[in-house]
Amino acid sequence: MELGERSYPIFIGDRLLAASGEILARFGRDGRIAVVTDERVWDCAGAALTVGLATAGIEAHPIFMPRGEEAKTWSGLSGLVDQLLELGVERSDHIVALGGGAIGDVTGFAASIVKRGCFYLQIPTTLLAQVDSSVGGKTAINSAAGKNLVGAFHQPAAVLIDPSTLDTLPERELRAGYAEVAKYGLIGDAGFFAWCEDHGEAVIAGDIAARLHAIETSVRAKAAIVADDERETSGRRALLNLGHTFGHAIEAATGLSGRVLHGEAVALGMALAFRFSAERGLCPPDDARRVSDHLRGMRLPTSLCEVGLSEAGLADGGGLVPHMLHDKKRARGSLPFILAHGIGKAFVDSSVELHEVEAFLRRQD
Ligand SMILES: NC(=O)c1ccc[n+]([C@@H]2O[C@H](COP(=O)([O-])OP(=O)(O)OC[C@H]3O[C@@H](n4cnc5c(N)ncnc54)[C@H](O)[C@@H]3O)[C@@H](O)[C@H]2O)c1
Ligand SMILES: [Zn+2]
Repeated sequence: MELGERSYPIFIGDRLLAASGEILARFGRDGRIAVVTDERVWDCAGAALTVGLATAGIEAHPIFMPRGEEAKTWSGLSGLVDQLLELGVERSDHIVALGGGAIGDVTGFAASIVKRGCFYLQIPTTLLAQVDSSVGGKTAINSAAGKNLVGAFHQPAAVLIDPSTLDTLPERELRAGYAEVAKYGLIGDAGFFAWCEDHGEAVIAGDIAARLHAIETSVRAKAAIVADDERETSGRRALLNLGHTFGHAIEAATGLSGRVLHGEAVALGMALAFRFSAERGLCPPDDARRVSDHLRGMRLPTSLCEVGLSEAGLADGGGLVPHMLHDKKRARGSLPFILAHGIGKAFVDSSVELHEVEAFLRRQD
């Protein structure tokens, strides 16, 4: 990840946890290292990490967080910070985030404030975290007003991605994370999207060559965009939000209880963004159809009724648009949408009127 003095390496390799000691030794730490995780992840990947670290004489000290979004709360954060301080973590120390995006987000945020900032390493264990959240330095917790509204930009010192950790991930989580993989093809790489059409199921089935290719291509795409626009000021990083304006509204409308996973909402959001682009004459209808066909083939939702948001529900004034107004990316009254001129040709469109979106959504089933 090229970011001047904040640059860092991203290691990707099958069974990479076995080499974690060798890699962490490069970060000048021996003895003991705090590993922030949750119990399920620790059951699945803790042993491999412990053995890997031991080869370099490093002992893992696990700190257990609640699972999922429960970790990304003020109380989760304060408990974590207290435990890190009790352990005597210093500014020059590295702490490890071992888990999904939730663990990575809260650990990164804690690392940004402990002793005014210490180092951290990402060891992502979900597909979503491996291809998206572990790279780029956005850290956050949720607040009463919404998701990810409190946080900091704080880049990790390194990212270690071991696809073999995905073997224990439930298939539904894997498919949801896959939506973010396909996203990179849709944003700027039509060739990669075509590869996804041919190899998506192999990624889910555990084909290691396919997983490595999917992860490496995704991470390279994300790193290139972040290198261009680290703090989302030029609009380029906003492209990563393809499918997310619709997606966040879908998540909000269906509750954050986990009925619709983030990646599922993003899949549906991308299908809607392409359909909307086609309706506006921006994108060939065939491309919009290909997007929906592939995502549906990957058993991801592509229509509102599949996630329980019926046309009737949208028409009664409930609807998705009010949820979009809460989108934190809203800048001065306008809501930028990521639309597309075709597969691999996403762009930021600030000319979209919300009543047009509302009318479009009413026509969806
Ligand atoms: N910082 C960013 O740039 C960024 C980007 C995208 C998403 N996010 C955040 O990421 C979070 C979602 O992350 P997620 O999808 O990884 O979900 P998650 O972190 O909530 O993890 C989902 C579940 O999977 C389990 N799990 C994790 N790894 C496992 C494994 N290898 N085997 C078995 N079970 C495992 C966990 O225990 C957890 O219950 C959201 O909070 C979102 O806001 C952040
Ligand atoms: Zn996402």
